[in-house]
Amino acid sequence: MRKIVCIGAGGHYLSCCDALSELGKSVHGYVDLVTKPNPFCNNYLGNDEWLATAEAGEFAYLITLGQIKSYVPRKRVYQTLEKNGCEILTLISQRSRTSPLSKIGCGCTVLNQAVIGPMTKIGNNCIINNSAIIEHGTKIGNHCHLATGAIVNGDVEIGDECFVGSGAVLRESLKITSGVVIGAGSVVISDILESGTWAGNPARKLS
Ligand SMILES: CC(C)(COP(=O)(O)OP(=O)(O)OC[C@H]1O[C@@H](n2cnc3c(N)ncnc32)[C@H](O)[C@@H]1OP(=O)(O)O)[C@@H](O)C(=O)NCCC(=O)NCCS
Repeated sequence: MRKIVCIGAGGHYLSCCDALSELGKSVHGYVDLVTKPNPFCNNYLGNDEWLATAEAGEFAYLITLGQIKSYVPRKRVYQTLEKNGCEILTLISQRSRTSPLSKIGCGCTVLNQAVIGPMTKIGNNCIINNSAIIEHGTKIGNHCHLATGAIVNGDVEIGDECFVGSGAVLRESLKITSGVVIGAGSVVISDILESGTWAGNPARKLS
C-alpha cells in the first residue's frame, strides 16, 4: 500500500488524521503553505511547488484542506492530483454510517457520525463533515462541503461547488443549484436556483 500524503494541515486535516488513526493508518507527510507542527505527523514535505510535481509513485494523496470561504483551493488541489495521475484517496470514518447502496466519489472525506442513506450519490472531492446527515435518494455534485451537523433530507439535488453550513436543514425533495453557500443554522424550505449566499429561516439570499 502506498504511503499517505495529506494536502492541507489545518483543522480539517486534524479531524481526518483522527479518523485515519482509528482505521490504523498513519500519515507519511503533509503539504501546506508553511510547516504546521501537529501531533499526527512531523514530516513537512513542502508547499504548492511540491504539489505541482506530485507523482503517482510511492504516495497516495488525501485532500485534507477544509472548504468554508471558497471551494477553489480544494478543487485546484484535486485537479492537480488528477492531472498528475496520482492516486486520490477517499476517507470514510469507521464511525460513520454509509449505506452500501450509496455511491461516494473519489477524494471525499466522510467523518465521524456522518450518515449517508441508501440510493444517495455524492460526487468527487466532497467533505461530509462530522454528524452531517444525508438522507435517501439525495444527489450531491462535485467539490461540495456539508459542514458539521448539516441535515439534507431525502431526494434533494445539490449541484457542484456548494457549501451547506453547520446545522443547516434542507427540506426534502429540493433542488439547489451549483455555487450556493448556505449559512450555518439556516432552514431551506424551497428550491435555490440562483448561486450566491443564502441564510436564515427561511433561507433568503444575502444582499
Ligand atoms: C453565511 C455566511 C457564509 C456569511 O458570511 P459573511 O458573508 O461573512 O456574512 P456576514 O457575517 O457579514 O453577515 C451578513 C449578513 O448575513 C447575516 N447572516 C450571516 N450568517 C447568517 C446565518 N448563518 N444565518 C442567518 N443570518 C446570517 C448577518 O447577520 C448579516 O446580516 P445584516 O447584514 O443584516 O447585519 C456565514 O455567516 C456562515 O454561516 N458561515 C458558515 C459557518 C460554518 O458553518 N462553518 C462550518 C465549519 S465545519
